[in-house]
Amino acid sequence: LALTGIATAAALTLAACGGSGDGAGAGGDGKTMKLALNQTEDHPSYIALEAFGEDLNEATDGRWDIEVYPNATLGAQDETIQLVSDGSVDLSIVSAPQLENLNDDFVVFSLPTVFDSVDSQMSIINDADVVGDVYASLEDSQNFSVVGGITQGARSFYTKDGPVQTPADMQGLKIRVQESPVFISMMKALGASATPMAFGEVYTGLQSGVIDGAENNEVSYFTQKHFEVAPYFSYTRHLIGADFLIASTPVLDAMSQEDRAAFDEAWQNTWKYHTELWNEATEKAITDAESGGATFTEVDAGAFADALSPMIEEFVTTDTQRALYDGIKAAGE
Ligand code: GCU
Repeated sequence: LALTGIATAAALTLAACGGSGDGAGAGGDGKTMKLALNQTEDHPSYIALEAFGEDLNEATDGRWDIEVYPNATLGAQDETIQLVSDGSVDLSIVSAPQLENLNDDFVVFSLPTVFDSVDSQMSIINDADVVGDVYASLEDSQNFSVVGGITQGARSFYTKDGPVQTPADMQGLKIRVQESPVFISMMKALGASATPMAFGEVYTGLQSGVIDGAENNEVSYFTQKHFEVAPYFSYTRHLIGADFLIASTPVLDAMSQEDRAAFDEAWQNTWKYHTELWNEATEKAITDAESGGATFTEVDAGAFADALSPMIEEFVTTDTQRALYDGIKAAGE
């Protein structure tokens, strides 16, 4: 009886870590990895990540595949970080500020003016020579690493009651921000009041008036339907945001050298494809939001940049932050 018990337990363990299943476990012979995403199916990130899975599947003769779970069905980004950390989800796309809470070197990626353009941002944040150390920094404490990044484009403010033309117009407004010190400080510098909130709660926050506005790119503004409840989009372009792909360390370690190389190559194709899709998606989002009643206004972006310029000094304080910041700046030249 005792023996049977042990055999059953062993069989259960095997099944849980099984090669063909899509459940948790490292999956030495490959598996279908779960990827958490908080965007809709018509967002370029979903489209590019679906292609990532197809690419990987083909390159590994079906050993490894990816199933993308859109619309935050696996949880808000901070929750999925926890799930990747404990191994119940394999991959997740998380916004840079979310990782700032685990290692404050990550603040550098969310500072105004750190990146000059989407194209240069994309080659920099997928270049291990520049960012490798910080990407590997959470392996021991969190069991995951950053594989690379995809762009969020330039972020701008949008509001319920008329555009914000100058920083003075931000005075006293309640603005939703991502849950991070750098974003809270940004609102302070503009005289607004920061309301940290998960992405998925922004629509109802705007609708109910808990917040007066938010900030994001045109694509999310449209795909999340925020334009319906905050129709004034003001081109402050205060920073170019980054999303990171994080991957469970035991899962990456379970890949053969050959499969890992295929994974890395498929990722390089993915961020390039995503960048290609991005401009087109931005144009379409603007047209579609305008048809839905939104107004896009060019404003005094320089005045916003000036108001935010002290943030570099405020947040780049340690040697590692300085080295990362300087490395990114040098790579961008
Ligand atoms: C962008 C970004 C997301 C992020 C969101 C937010 O849409 O791509 O990763 O969650 O902004 O403001 O929370």
